[in-house]
Amino acid sequence: MSFDLVLFGGTGDLAWRKLMPALFQAFRHGSLPEGGRILGVGRDDLSDDAYRALIQSRFDHVDLAKRPSPDEFARFAALLHFVRMDLSQPADYTRLAAALNTRQADTLVMYLATAPALFTTVCEQIAAVGLNQPRTRLVLEKPLGHDLASNRAINAAVCRVLDERQVFRIDHYLGKPSVQNLFALRFGNALFEPLWRREHIANIQITIAEDLGVEKRGAFYDSTGALRDMVQNHALQLLCAIGMEPPINAHADAIRDEKLKVLRSLKAWTPQSLAQDVIRGQYTAGTLGGAAVPGYRDEPGVQPQTATETFVALRTEIANWRWAGVPFYLRTGKRLAGRDARIVVNFRATPHAIFNAPNGAVNRLVIHLQPKDGLELHLLAQGADTRRNHQARVQSLSPVQLDLDFDTRFGVERVGAYERLLLDVIDGRLNLFVRSDEQEEAWRWVGPILDAWHADPNGPRPYAAGSWGPSASSAMIARDGYCWSEEC
Ligand code: BG6
Repeated sequence: MSFDLVLFGGTGDLAWRKLMPALFQAFRHGSLPEGGRILGVGRDDLSDDAYRALIQSRFDHVDLAKRPSPDEFARFAALLHFVRMDLSQPADYTRLAAALNTRQADTLVMYLATAPALFTTVCEQIAAVGLNQPRTRLVLEKPLGHDLASNRAINAAVCRVLDERQVFRIDHYLGKPSVQNLFALRFGNALFEPLWRREHIANIQITIAEDLGVEKRGAFYDSTGALRDMVQNHALQLLCAIGMEPPINAHADAIRDEKLKVLRSLKAWTPQSLAQDVIRGQYTAGTLGGAAVPGYRDEPGVQPQTATETFVALRTEIANWRWAGVPFYLRTGKRLAGRDARIVVNFRATPHAIFNAPNGAVNRLVIHLQPKDGLELHLLAQGADTRRNHQARVQSLSPVQLDLDFDTRFGVERVGAYERLLLDVIDGRLNLFVRSDEQEEAWRWVGPILDAWHADPNGPRPYAAGSWGPSASSAMIARDGYCWSEEC
């Protein structure tokens, strides 16, 4: 099955950092279908060879194990071509169509790794030159708009030229092996399902912490912020995976229908919950890994007085029979104490205590997403201190844990998120992509938060780089009598 993959933004940051390395890994693993072409699109005046040289220089910055030998790169480079385009110029799409029409590949993938402001124009223009064919698949990178209205406008423009089944909205978290393991844990095993409900679960915490700052994306990030960059998409997708009902099968729409129901069931915001249950922060200068790092406002590209949040913590509930009353805490931020994405499921305490147990110790399932990929099950057991225990009238229990490390078990060389997602696009598998109604629902839900912040002169709370965010985040969760997992 031959394919042509047109990469709009072919010299951009995403192509450079993620897509080219992923395509190379797929090539190396022999998973890219034979007879493919990858056409990078950009404004620069580059020959195919100059583009290949540019991409090759990228590999000087990847791990040694993922670096091609000169011979390997030469074979991969034969797939790469460059098309110079100004995306606002209709004539340039005619040239693109001519380049693509030199042959009829079975699948034509259009990957929009560009600023979202260009999405509508590109869709209209590819239709104008007749490239919206049944074989066409369109890949859209986030952010898809900056609020519900802009998201709808993009989706409407896309739907005018292509069928929903031809549209692949990327949320790269869904491509991570650890996130697929989350689906496997819930829907490939019967063990936890009877416990996966309000009767047995006290609260769930979803943390996506990054130690990195905004790197070279200061200007983009400053107009985006953590809520749009991480919560509206990645964190809510994780919430869906944790909270959804078992789908009737593993097909894309069965899974997406269930995720949509979770998003629709999220408790509506009130002025009170917006004030109490949503915390925004912004990092100030601090120390990470022993090195001093600047505050957000001193990062290149960031406005000096900016009110953009680099941290969000919030509390929500899924208002349905399974989850009513169970708090879901979501937290994400830049320049936090470490890179750590995990979901912590805290089970309820025993209904009646016949042993002594350390304060607050409960059964807990920790799903590590990154950097570690694995599961920990925290239990209580009679520890080593048996002599004293033996004499005591009430025995004491100590926390212990079962620890499953998927990297050790399956090897770290598993298919990466972008590699998996790119192969899925080429194969036409939609399971790990987001449907327009899911995305709109997520925007609808974050809308009141954005509005409330807009009207709030106080701005984000400061937190020192290298910490776990503003103290208000701990205070929010403490109000329910709980604490973030690293605190207890
Ligand atoms: C991206 C965000 O979607 O996800 C970035 O735009 C963030 O700001 C990144 O750093 C995190 O992805 P990962 O895979 O490194 O956790």
